[in-house]
Amino acid sequence: MKTPNMINAKNRHSNQIKYTKYNIDLGNFGKGKKFFVRTYGCQMNEHDSEKIKGMLTSVGFEYTDDINDADVIILNTCAIRENAHDKVFGFLGVLKHMKQSKNIIVGICGCMAQEEVVINEILNKYKQVDFVCGTHNLDNILSILKEQIDTKKRQIEVLSYEGDVVENVPVLRDSIYSAWVDIIYGCDKFCTYCIVPYTRGMQRSRYHEDIVNEVKELVKKGYKEVTLLGQNVNAYGKDIYEDYTLANLLSDVADTGIERLRFVTSHPWDFTDEMVDVIAKRDNIMPYIHLPLQSGSNKILKLMNRRYTKEEYLKLYHQIREKVKDSSITTDIIVGFPGETEEDFEETLDVVNECKFDGAFTFAYSPRENTPAARMKDSIPEEVKMDRLHRLNEVVNKYSNEANQKLLNKTVKCLVTGISEKDEDKVCGYTENMKLVNIAGDKSLIGKIVNVKIIEAKSFSLDGEYIK
Ligand code: SAH
Ligand code: SF4
Ligand code: F3S
Repeated sequence: MKTPNMINAKNRHSNQIKYTKYNIDLGNFGKGKKFFVRTYGCQMNEHDSEKIKGMLTSVGFEYTDDINDADVIILNTCAIRENAHDKVFGFLGVLKHMKQSKNIIVGICGCMAQEEVVINEILNKYKQVDFVCGTHNLDNILSILKEQIDTKKRQIEVLSYEGDVVENVPVLRDSIYSAWVDIIYGCDKFCTYCIVPYTRGMQRSRYHEDIVNEVKELVKKGYKEVTLLGQNVNAYGKDIYEDYTLANLLSDVADTGIERLRFVTSHPWDFTDEMVDVIAKRDNIMPYIHLPLQSGSNKILKLMNRRYTKEEYLKLYHQIREKVKDSSITTDIIVGFPGETEEDFEETLDVVNECKFDGAFTFAYSPRENTPAARMKDSIPEEVKMDRLHRLNEVVNKYSNEANQKLLNKTVKCLVTGISEKDEDKVCGYTENMKLVNIAGDKSLIGKIVNVKIIEAKSFSLDGEYIK
């Protein structure tokens, strides 16, 4: 048994990072068995689930969407806020019942697996969990699962170190048109509220040749869109190269001819002029940037250790808007950080009013075990947090609606990704600006980039019709 340790998880030793290739051959031990994966959290976790699916199918397991049909159930968890935890622990209750009537194996992966408190709780209270595999050793999940099956003993293997960079991990992608591609793992920013630097380890970039080759393969397979992933993609390369940055990588990946290139998430601190220029210049780099603000108060930004001021954020924001034609910019905002006064909150509203974001993910601050902010004084009462969140959402929704209204009667290009969730007779897709459109058109459009005329604009989606 190897369990996590949050103090070790803070350490950074770049000389310990190993670049390796996936090298696990365990035959066909999954043959005849089915598995199900439920994913919580961010896009990196979604992509990790695709790797879990790839590794399990490589030894004969079959993926099923129906949990009742599965022999192995894996929860790929998120630790970013308390409600992410609650969902997982709640679901473990459901699985406990399932286990009473059926012989199933339950596994926990992802960021919650890296938390000391969670593992202690699982050890003491959640006997229904058969194995735990951390984020740093995800590539070893098959050995852990096999050991559990062979010995029937609970397996816990979580490492608290910087993590390796493992290439060639088998991956079973959810889409055949749009693909996630990791470019940088971990995070070294240590924003004081955030658990990610502890659960995902040190910032470590993949080699650019490996990334470009992966995208070339995807282009060959007919993929239309690639999204480069990292907790902070703008820091790409800093850990391994002297003079190769995200700007170089974007340019090299754009050269592969992929029709749509996206990247997420950008930290304003690492955003350079060269990066803005390359996004502006290259037609296949989509004019959509997610640029988390977190707060509009310099006092709170400092307490958050965000490394930029409101003025610096606004300068970058306007620079992007000016240079990148028809860009859309979305953001993340936290309300109720310790010490946030009504005036601080109003400064956040001021920035939102100035930026008129295309959209924003808004959150009530949630203290995370062992992070510096969890030890800060002046915590904000829950009802004040909720009131601010509500007021913020009203302003945010007004601007996303306005941004959508601007598209009314315009013809835009959409990558059609599937059947509309709202209406089975329609398909849906995303504009270059990453806006969701429900499209009157038939299923044969799925997987294509087509022209769509916008006929109705709402706060969170658009309605359109296919134009030949
Ligand atoms: N790497 C990204 C953020 C990943 S987490 C970045 O730096 O922008 C996604 C969002 O969750 C963050 O942008 C932040 O707004 C929110 N978040 C992170 N920790 C939080 C916490 N403890 N409480 C509330 N929201 C949090
Ligand atoms: Fe968390 Fe900050 Fe890193 Fe984003 S940049 S993952 S918010 S520590
Ligand atoms: Fe959650 Fe981990 Fe992603 S905490 S947001 S799954 S990096």
